[in-house]
Amino acid sequence: MTNAKAILVDHPLIQHKLTIMRKADTPSSLFRQLLQEISQLLTFEVCRDLKTEPVLIETPLETMEGQKLAGKKLCLVSILRAGNGLLDGMLDVIPSARVGHIGLYRDHETLKPVEYYLNLPDAIEDRLTLVVDPMLATGYSAIAAVDRLKKAGARQIKFVCLLAAPEGIDAFYDHHPDVPIYTAAIDRQLNDHGYIMPGLGDAGDRIYGTK
Ligand code: URA
Repeated sequence: MTNAKAILVDHPLIQHKLTIMRKADTPSSLFRQLLQEISQLLTFEVCRDLKTEPVLIETPLETMEGQKLAGKKLCLVSILRAGNGLLDGMLDVIPSARVGHIGLYRDHETLKPVEYYLNLPDAIEDRLTLVVDPMLATGYSAIAAVDRLKKAGARQIKFVCLLAAPEGIDAFYDHHPDVPIYTAAIDRQLNDHGYIMPGLGDAGDRIYGTK
């Protein structure tokens, strides 16, 4: 289903798993496992429009024309640190993808994201690039990450998250109308501290058991 802007992947299996993740008493081990399973399911939808090309293969009985993915291997870029929770499930499904990482922190005075780490695969301009972060809240990190990837040459980008706030979707599309957002849910709103409501809390803390 597509709302005005974001692509909502609300498969019943995803809704069921996400509801368990949201519960405050779900332990980190189960939270991580469910995030990995949901990201596998999200990946199917995100990759629905990948191009394939014919390839001749031998089955045990005869020659047939199969299909293989066309073009260069995909690039997955995780926004540290919570992005790694989504990354794992995507790599299960696309094991040959190249992986990049981007680290951003929020400057206390300007409140703007500042890059502290960047490592990207080569030839990013020729790869479909999937930027992953579980929570699209204010959208500032996602916007900054996509700004940086475009500067590095990426031309075909999709953004994949678990939960999105309407404010984050609006801000993101104001800056990057060419980059589709895929999300498993669109929640009600942000609170005064920038948390998604009803949300699931701090995704990084819940994945890694920190506070
Ligand atoms: N980041 C999180 O981890 N959770 C939120 O609710 C918002 C941003």
